Amino acid sequence: MSYTQPELGYAFNALEPHIDAATMELHYSKHHKAYVDKFNAAVQGKNEDSLKLEQLFAGMDKLSADLLPAVRNNGGGAWNHTEFWKWMTPNDAQKQIPDHVKSAIDASFGSLDKLKEQFSDAAATVFGSGWAWVIRTADGKLKVTKTANQENPLMNLPTIADRGTPILGLDVWEHAYYLKHQNRRPDYISAFWNVVNWQYVGSLLK
Ligand SMILES: [Fe+2]
Repeated sequence: MSYTQPELGYAFNALEPHIDAATMELHYSKHHKAYVDKFNAAVQGKNEDSLKLEQLFAGMDKLSADLLPAVRNNGGGAWNHTEFWKWMTPNDAQKQIPDHVKSAIDASFGSLDKLKEQFSDAAATVFGSGWAWVIRTADGKLKVTKTANQENPLMNLPTIADRGTPILGLDVWEHAYYLKHQNRRPDYISAFWNVVNWQYVGSLLK
C-alpha cells in the first residue's frame, strides 16, 4: 500500500497574487511528487509499507538505520506538503477564523497578532531549509516551533525540540518562494497570511 499524493484541491493559479502559479506547479508536481515517489520506493516490500506516515514518525526511534533517512526526508516531505496544501485556500469563507481557534490562540499567545509575530519570526529564522509550525502539545496548549529540512513535530527524533500535533505549518525552503520573491523570505511569509485556511486549522483543533 503505497502513499498517494492527494489532489491539490485548487488550481495552481488559485492563490495568486499571494502565491504564484509557477511556484505552485513546480512545488506540487515536482518537489512534492519526488518526496512521495522516493518514500514509496524506500518502503516497497517492507513491513513499514503497511503503516501510516504518522505511525512511522511516532516510531522513528525504532526504525532501522537504512530506513530512517527515507522516512525522515521523503516521508516527512510527503506528509508536510500534503498538509501544507490544505493549510492554504483561495476561498474567503475558509479564511474565516472559527471561534474555538480564536479562543485557543488568545489563551496561548494573547492575540492573533502575537501568534503571527512569533510564527513569522520562527519562519524567518529557520537557518537554511525547514518549516515553521504551530503545534498542539500534549498539555493542550498551542506553541510555535520550527524544524530543519523535512522533519516535523510528529517525529520521535532527538532533533525535534517540541513534539506535538501540527495545526499550521509553513514551508520555508527556497523552492517555496524563490521564483517570486528570490531571497526575500519575509515577503513570502507576509503573503502566506493572506491565504491561510483557518477553517482547516479549526478542524485539526477539535
Ligand atoms: Fe516544499
